[in-house]
Amino acid sequence: MAKWDANIEARNKPEFEFDVHKEFHDIISRTTFGSNFSKGKQIFELQEIVDECKTFYIAGKETTANLLTCLILGLHQEWQNKAREEVDRVCGQHAFPCADNLADLKITLPSSSNAVHHDVRIWGEDANVFNPMRFLEPRNHLASFFPFGLGPQICVGQNLAIVEAKIALAMIVGRYSFVVSPSYVHAPMKLLTMQPQYGAQMIFKRRS
Ligand code: HEM
Repeated sequence: MAKWDANIEARNKPEFEFDVHKEFHDIISRTTFGSNFSKGKQIFELQEIVDECKTFYIAGKETTANLLTCLILGLHQEWQNKAREEVDRVCGQHAFPCADNLADLKITLPSSSNAVHHDVRIWGEDANVFNPMRFLEPRNHLASFFPFGLGPQICVGQNLAIVEAKIALAMIVGRYSFVVSPSYVHAPMKLLTMQPQYGAQMIFKRRS
């Protein structure tokens, strides 16, 4: 966030554009793993440990960074505003979120291309409409929503991912408003996870 603020101050303009997809991969790498992959490799010499780190690095970074690529909130300004109101109410204006706030931040970004998550029999006729509040209502279906998988191989990092995503999102929407840049080209690409092929350029404006 200090880097973003410095960006605004250096240009002496209230807004700036950058590729959030690229930026979040770097941020999640550093917050989760303390360094980048090559630095981690110097520390762990045992091949087995290196392999485990690779799994955690790929499984933890790709997914969470993509979740944070806030294109959806950039496209749905009404939900971005609701998320900002929630952050102001729960965390206080211009304050960083703390552990006690996390359970009260309900407008997160669970998104997935899994067909079950768009099944009208489970989610109703508006299953394809972006509405984060739909997850507040219980569904009469055991496997109605499973972005982290199910059963014995369920994602070990799901709590970390949700905490990371909530903190990052609360910090961003609390300080900035953002829209999708005209330079963004919509080209979703499936490469293990769903990714924006040409990046996700957004325009950020600091709140006064
Ligand atoms: C939004 C974020 C995330 C999503 C959507 C996600 C999703 C998933 C899914 C669907 C699986 C497969 C479960 C199965 O095999 O049935 C999985 C496995 C796994 N995840 Fe996550 N994950 C996320 C974040 C993380 C994080 C932050 C970490 C760790 C830092 C992590 C570590 C792992 C590991 C180690 C596995 C098991 C891989 C294996 O042994 O095959 N994940 N995740």
